[in-house]
Amino acid sequence: MSTRHGDYLNGRGSDKDPLIASEHEEAHTAAKFAALNMDEGARCSKRIPSTPGDVIEERNTSTGQTSKPSSSSSLSSKSSNPPLSVVGVSSEEAKGDSTGHSGLRAPLARVECQSDGSSSDSTIKCLDNVAVERRKGNSSAAASRAASAFVEKVTTLLSPVDAERNGFKPRPCEGSPSSFTSYTGSSSDEDDTSPREKTQKNSKGFGDFCVKNIDHAAFGRREIEIAEQEMPGLMALRRRAEADKPLQGAKIIGCTHITAQTAVLVETLAALGASLRWSACNIYSTQNEVAAALAESGFPIYAWKGETEEDFWWCIDKCVNAEGWQPNTILDDGGDATHWLLKRYPAMFNMVKGIVEESVTGVHRLYQLSKSGKLSVPAMNVNDSVTKTKFDNLYSCRESILDALKRTTDVMFGGKQVLISGYGEVGKGCSQALKGLGAIVSVTEIDPICALQACMDGFRVVKLDEVVRQIDVLITCTGNKNVVTRQHLDRLKNGCIVCNMGHSNTEIDVTSLRTPELTWEKVRSQVDHIIWPDGKRIILLAEGRLVNLSCSSVPSFVVSITATTQALALIELFNAPQGRYKQDVYLLPKKMDEYVASLHLPTFDAHLTELSDDQAKYLGLNKAGPFKPNYYRY
Ligand SMILES: NC(=O)c1ccc[n+]([C@@H]2O[C@H](COP(=O)([O-])OP(=O)(O)OC[C@H]3O[C@@H](n4cnc5c(N)ncnc54)[C@H](O)[C@@H]3O)[C@@H](O)[C@H]2O)c1
Repeated sequence: MSTRHGDYLNGRGSDKDPLIASEHEEAHTAAKFAALNMDEGARCSKRIPSTPGDVIEERNTSTGQTSKPSSSSSLSSKSSNPPLSVVGVSSEEAKGDSTGHSGLRAPLARVECQSDGSSSDSTIKCLDNVAVERRKGNSSAAASRAASAFVEKVTTLLSPVDAERNGFKPRPCEGSPSSFTSYTGSSSDEDDTSPREKTQKNSKGFGDFCVKNIDHAAFGRREIEIAEQEMPGLMALRRRAEADKPLQGAKIIGCTHITAQTAVLVETLAALGASLRWSACNIYSTQNEVAAALAESGFPIYAWKGETEEDFWWCIDKCVNAEGWQPNTILDDGGDATHWLLKRYPAMFNMVKGIVEESVTGVHRLYQLSKSGKLSVPAMNVNDSVTKTKFDNLYSCRESILDALKRTTDVMFGGKQVLISGYGEVGKGCSQALKGLGAIVSVTEIDPICALQACMDGFRVVKLDEVVRQIDVLITCTGNKNVVTRQHLDRLKNGCIVCNMGHSNTEIDVTSLRTPELTWEKVRSQVDHIIWPDGKRIILLAEGRLVNLSCSSVPSFVVSITATTQALALIELFNAPQGRYKQDVYLLPKKMDEYVASLHLPTFDAHLTELSDDQAKYLGLNKAGPFKPNYYRY
């Protein structure tokens, strides 16, 4: 795993939506959006709130630059392909209930289109076969007919576990092996010259990139290779679809965290035929050596750790506004690339075949655009795929909370009183992990269903006020604001550890701790002691930002699941026949979620039971899936 302690100062790779609004970042955001001439409500990046608690609102694009939605905007002659069988779930279904809830987490109805008469399992099949037929120059009808071969091939290949697990042969590192031993990943030894002021060329004379130091490419390559080993599903997709090139002709603008895991995604998309240009979605999270490795391999990468606000938009613009290259798909994490195109290049935006968005924030904004009729292209909400929410939020947090707490505090958790605020996916993961270490875990909840789940799982459900004087560790996981107030903080006992796992740094009212009577003592990176006049101190981690992203590593395996989902979403949008996806926000079809999961099963030598014909008939299922309706909650 490539992520090092402290690397994710304000975010992490490719999978997440850290609404981490440090003061610096807020200033950055303000400047970014000022650069776009947008009003306050326009903010769409992960750094949206200008002040803690700001509500994310949609920008009113009063400039007149935003073009009208166009249903005939597809740039592709492939658009005449006939509709295939399964489409995602549109925002109409996802909008939720009459209570005004966004519906993002609401059970979603299934939308199916079977106008070609094919069965509903063909979505994944479509991914590749349309591309194959296109490559052969065959008609769209042939593409449709051929739509089953790829996935059948893929599914067959799922069984030979060892071949799958051992098939990957890492490429040799580029650069001098002798230099690998001492590299720390720090950029502190580099000069302060802005990368923009340097003339940059890789060893082959390629110069369409801007990174911190191309000489560190070899170190980045090693990081990428380590990540590849822990991203089996994504690597399996690469191997299986490499020959078919389902992304041949795709021109993807990427704007994500640039980490070793993202690099594995970038190289997978390229192996599947895409041409890419990539910038960072966060000014702090780029792993410089990884960006260098990608540039050394010939990818137009514009990113470095510690970009200024102006650099940030310059990098995105260098990706969008390239001579002789026009994007037709967007892979976004936070909505910045989408927003830049929409605002600055509306005509180009209307030609895009689709947007894949990963973050809560970016998805929120897409739904708002859709609601107001300003979304002129289809978009995939990867954030709410079951393969994201159930794995990233639950399993990744279950591991990374312990890593973060251990690295920062050296505390033993057996017998400690821990309070988890919020018993959603993240809260469940944290509670399980700490219970496993022997901690005495209590939970706060506002939702009776989640509260009952906590009870059934053996946790006491309490109010924070009731236990605030006894607890040793307090972890917020609600996605809400002001869950822990100054009054609570005043009453905590000496030595209490306080941290946040939710997306925003507003769950704990950290601002209220910046008063003259309290002393802040930085004891190590991401660890502050806040000392009261009577000598009581609390241990605040990551200043209330996401503690796991700030202080620990994130499992590459979980990123693999999310990245595979992103890759499939891109393939689907790029190959979808005209009319399958409208100007709306969709969830990936269930079959694709199942496919992503199946790609990761061989790692565990897991053997799926097959339905008998009789059983399939009894349950009313296709033997090849999907096995659950879209409203199934897992
Ligand atoms: N740290 C990470 O790596 C990571 C990963 C995924 C998601 N997240 C973030 O973590 C947060 C939670 O995600 P989730 O998937 O668990 O969401 P969720 O909606 O499943 O769970 C949040 C829970 O908090 C409860 N809640 C809300 N306000 C509360 C309050 N005042 N007191 C007590 N409980 C309250 C809700 O009822 C809900 O059950 C989100 O902000 C999400 O973006 C973080």
